[in-house]
Amino acid sequence: MAKSLWNDNLSVGVPLIDQQHKMLLKHLAELSEAVGGHHGSSEIAGTLDFLVDYTDFHFSTEEKHMKANDYSGFEQHLALHEEFKRTLANLGEDFREEGATPSLAEAINTLLINWFLKHIEVVDQKLCTFLCEKGVVLEEEV
Ligand SMILES: [Fe+2]
Repeated sequence: MAKSLWNDNLSVGVPLIDQQHKMLLKHLAELSEAVGGHHGSSEIAGTLDFLVDYTDFHFSTEEKHMKANDYSGFEQHLALHEEFKRTLANLGEDFREEGATPSLAEAINTLLINWFLKHIEVVDQKLCTFLCEKGVVLEEEV
């Protein structure tokens, strides 16, 4: 089982967002381990597919609440989400063309995992501080 990337210092103070971040980090760790450890292609492809869908779902949650609350950093935050989605799509393409190469493993660790950890610590923390100060309560998506 992949080592968890989550630690409580990553909490942004909004349980729903923390929960979604944990889910994404869990699958990013699994992807890193699967590519680095040359696991089967179907396992890697399955994790990539999950990440594409879940990233969309998670980013939509944040974007919905930014819009609904007239968040001034919306455009900037949205551009970062688009950047991550593009990177994820490009790495999926690399995997389909060249398989689990060392450079893909490296890119997953830097361009996806480190990027996402930094995004949580800085950009999502800023958004969630704004939402908390406004007294916004985020409900579970169904
Ligand atoms: Fe975000």
